[in-house]
Parts: sequence; C-alpha cells; structure tokens
Amino acid sequence: MNAIADMPSSASTAGAAVSTPPGAPLIEVRDLRKRFGDVEVLRGVDLQIARSEVVCIIGPSGSGKSTLLRCLAALETYDQGDVRIEGELLGYSERNGKRVRASPGEINRVRRNVGMVFQQFNLWPHMSALGNVMEALLRVRHLSRDEARRRANAMLDTVGLAHKGDAYPAKLSGGQQQRVAIARALAMEPHIMLFDEPTSALDPELVGEVLQVMKQLARDGMTMAVVTHEMGFAAQVADKVMFIDQGRIAVQGNPRDVFHDAGQPRLRQFLQNYFDRNAFWTREADDAPPL
Ligand SMILES: Nc1ncnc2c1ncn2[C@@H]1O[C@H](COP(=O)(O)OP(=O)(O)O)[C@@H](O)[C@H]1O
Ligand SMILES: [Mg+2]
Repeated sequence: MNAIADMPSSASTAGAAVSTPPGAPLIEVRDLRKRFGDVEVLRGVDLQIARSEVVCIIGPSGSGKSTLLRCLAALETYDQGDVRIEGELLGYSERNGKRVRASPGEINRVRRNVGMVFQQFNLWPHMSALGNVMEALLRVRHLSRDEARRRANAMLDTVGLAHKGDAYPAKLSGGQQQRVAIARALAMEPHIMLFDEPTSALDPELVGEVLQVMKQLARDGMTMAVVTHEMGFAAQVADKVMFIDQGRIAVQGNPRDVFHDAGQPRLRQFLQNYFDRNAFWTREADDAPPL
C-alpha cells in the first residue's frame, strides 16, 4: 500500500494554512489511549514535539511505537485522549462539548502537513523513482505535470538521487529506495516527518546513506519523530529521546541523560540488551559509557 498516494484528495477541503503561535508544540498528545480488542496498546501517552525538534522514540518490540506514530498520522484511530497537530484536534471534532468522529475530509485537512516514512518503502514497482515522487503531487495535490515533475526532481536532488529519476525501484538498492520514499514524503511539503524504523529493513552497509539524509533534514530544521534502533543516530541527532515501554512513555529527556544516566530499570535493561548485541561499542573502554 502506498499510504500517501492512497490518501483521499484533501484539495477540496483544504483550508488556509493554520499557523501555530511561536513556541506552541507542533504535535501535542495528551493521555492517548488505544486498544486492539482486549489489549490496551497505548496506555496514556503524553508528549509534545516543538517546531524543529527531533524526537527519537526507542523501546522494545511490541511496546506501541508504531501504533503511536500511526495515531499521529491518522492511519489508526484512537480511543481516548487528544492528538493535536498544529493546535488542531486530529480525528475528532468537538461540537457543543461533545466529541464526534471527524469526516475523512476534515481528517485529511488536519494531517496534510504530516509526512510519514515506513520500514518498508512501498514504492510503486511499475513507476520510476520520479513517477513515485510525482504520483501524490498529481493525484492528491492536483499539480500540473510540469509542476509535479519540477518539484519531484528537486526532492530527488535533496536526497542525492537527482540522477536516478528514470530508474525503477527494482534497479535501486534498498537505501536508494528508502531515499525515494523520503523524497516522496517531502514533496508534500510536510511540517513534520514521522519515521518508523526507516533503516530496519536495510542491509547494514546501506543504513548510513539513509541516516545521512535524515541528519541533513534535521539540520535544515525539519520537525521529526523517529522510531529507531539506531542509538548512535539518536544520541547524535535527537533533541529528545523517549523510551516507550508497555504503551507508556517511561522515560524522556535529552540523549545524554537518557543514555548515560539510565536509572529506570526497564530502560537500563533495554539499553543493556542493545549494547550486548552491539558489543564492539563497549569493548574500547569498559568503564566508559558506550556513547
Ligand atoms: N492492527 C492490529 N491489530 C491487533 N493488534 C495489533 C495491531 N497493531 C499492533 N497490534 C499489537 O499492538 C502491540 C504494539 O504493536 P506496535 O505498535 O506495532 O509495537 P512496536 O512498533 O513497538 O513494535 C503489539 O502487541 C501488536 O501485536
Ligand atoms: Mg513497530
């Protein structure tokens, strides 16, 4: 599935751009709860992401990281709490103090500035790299072909793939495919980018080129929420690291505090497991913190 290209058109319902007051969080989540059947997967998540902030979300498998990101992108409904994007409630409308499910058009309007990149790149195999980036610009944003091509080329240039516009996904490496997926999301001019383990499906030698693109995005001031197992990236790039465990944010803080002073037992265990698997990191200096 191509999530972005499959979004219903929001052009007819798009209102004027909503500007948030300076300093107001771009994303604000309060007491977010989500269950699948009997299982409460998100159990009261609170978080804020400010403009230009990079937040890395770490945590064990099954802790709710993907579900959280999917709720922020309205790819998943939520049961309770608030998700606000640039001040606007996502997924619901409030009328006379009562909450009702928002219409698809309204949901698309609120989430139109949220871009998402997945572990699986989900490029259309029958379209060139350029075609993949142009698709949503044509179908969702209704740009002219010339305008869509111009913007798509600029986005491929941003991810270092200006020369690969004509290449089909099968001819691209995993790292290149993921960079096309990033270009595709950026083409929609998002105010915030969500990444769900963007390098987890890649061969190790291809991880760096994707992280490099993400670092550049962060340097350029993009607001980002990144679910990742790349602790080095989190330590280097994140303004804030959040450790999610069993559907709650158990620890959050700047990377130094989270990685160096991991007092919370489950975080300590999580990091210990990680560094045991990546033992070469700690071999150099046994008594020094690994990062
Ligand atoms: N569509 C779904 N239906 C039922 N259970 C789900 C669904 N999506 C996720 N889950 C369950 O929710 C929990 C959290 O999943 P997920 O958010 O994918 O965790 P993470 O990304 O941290 O590994 C897991 O137990 C998973 O099996
Ligand atoms: Mg996940």
